[in-house]
Amino acid sequence: MSKNIIILGTQWGDEGKGKIVDWLTDQARAVVRFQGGHNAGHTLIIDGKKTVLRLIPSGILREGVLCVIGNGVVLSPEALLQEMGELKANGVDVSKRLRISAACSLLLPYHVALDQAREKKRGKEAIGTTGRGIGPAYEDKVARRGLRAIDLLNEKTLREKVEMLAEYHNFMLKNYYETATISAESVVTKLLELGEFIKPMIGDTTALLAQIQAENGNIIFEGAQGSLLDIDLGTYPFVTSSNTSAGAAATGSGFGPLFFDAVIGITKAYVTRVGAGPFPTELQDAIGKNMAERGKEFGSVTGRPRRCGWFDVIAMRRSIQMNSLTSLVLTKLDVLDEMTEIKICTGYKCGNEVLQQPPFDITVLSQCEPVYETMPGWQENTFGVTDYAKMPKAARNYIERLEQLLGLKIDVVSTGPDRKHTIIRNDILR
Ligand code: GDP
Ligand code: IMO
Ligand code: MG
Repeated sequence: MSKNIIILGTQWGDEGKGKIVDWLTDQARAVVRFQGGHNAGHTLIIDGKKTVLRLIPSGILREGVLCVIGNGVVLSPEALLQEMGELKANGVDVSKRLRISAACSLLLPYHVALDQAREKKRGKEAIGTTGRGIGPAYEDKVARRGLRAIDLLNEKTLREKVEMLAEYHNFMLKNYYETATISAESVVTKLLELGEFIKPMIGDTTALLAQIQAENGNIIFEGAQGSLLDIDLGTYPFVTSSNTSAGAAATGSGFGPLFFDAVIGITKAYVTRVGAGPFPTELQDAIGKNMAERGKEFGSVTGRPRRCGWFDVIAMRRSIQMNSLTSLVLTKLDVLDEMTEIKICTGYKCGNEVLQQPPFDITVLSQCEPVYETMPGWQENTFGVTDYAKMPKAARNYIERLEQLLGLKIDVVSTGPDRKHTIIRNDILR
């Protein structure tokens, strides 16, 4: 029996999804991205060699694995070709193995200009977006005025649609944001040029996935961002503009919801967040700094430092509910190696109450104080360990305590960035 599994981030992104998807892909026929865009940065390290993927699914370094960009993604043709060029320079020919949904929305220079102008105007209230145009691209999709991949195949409709968009967005750019406008002609010329390279990869990927399923091939659906950045259920408005949760794997690829077999949540052994927004367990002290340094917590897309804090069971509870997680992968455990003690947040103290669910009102959430339980650290090197029995007792106690608190099994523990720095407790696809 084939297996179709969703792998997604359970926190605020950068949980190590790329590493785990790549690692699992030796057992898959296809890997599918279903939401987000080049705001994502997924790092793969294979025998010491680093590759950062933004739009291309993390199956691309496995020979013979088909990679699919689903309809739910916002695709910047420019960013895609740049990424393909970088991979080609390293000997990976993407074009043969990548397929793009004809229904995929295009992210255009207007979206980037609007994203950046808006963030600037918000000043201290900025969301801290990646500045890649993600929000405005999704807005155009929902407003039903956006372009889709299929439009690259027809010069006439492409031109008409870009001209309409230019008129609409340039008005805002010029009059409201008082910034430079972008000529329709320049966008059309560029799209026609880039389109030549992209055209052969465009197709009906929904039918393609159905066919792989009929042939009993395993399919991995790779989430971007994290559940707490979900546009509906995350820490709104400090979120991204797509649904990052499991439901989006169906809507963002056209693969029916009943065909999924498992939803695996990728979870860091602590928590990080890039950009603004509430973060109850954030540490602004030497411990947080140690996590950032040992975990090399700098954004893989923007290079921004990531905020760090203790593991948060309350925030995770929301992720477990919204995603129907079947099990977890715990990453970056080695980062905690030097800690004398380790804390786990098991409640949010808010006034006289201790909440067990994260509140939707971010004003309330910002006032919550974490309630911690403390465990002894292991202060031993776990970097690269591949055998669970060889883990220090205190590290195993931490892992098993998290399982108990979350009510979920931790199938895999990651102890380093390389594909091989992985402990398998339960073989997910095999
Ligand atoms: P993603 O966006 O979820 O794919 O995660 P990123 O690639 O943005 O960030 C995760 C970072 O942690 C990358 O630099 C990875 O190479 C690294 N990483 C992944 N797993 C581990 C691990 O178990 N230990 C350590 N030390 N680093 C890891
Ligand atoms: P991966 O897939 C971490 C954050 C941004 C910002 C908010 C909105 O690598 O885990 P956007 O540009 O999407 O409008 O920004 O979302 N963000 C991420 N944070 N990892 C990501 O992706 C992110 N993608 C977006 O920092 O706070
Ligand atoms: Mg990332």
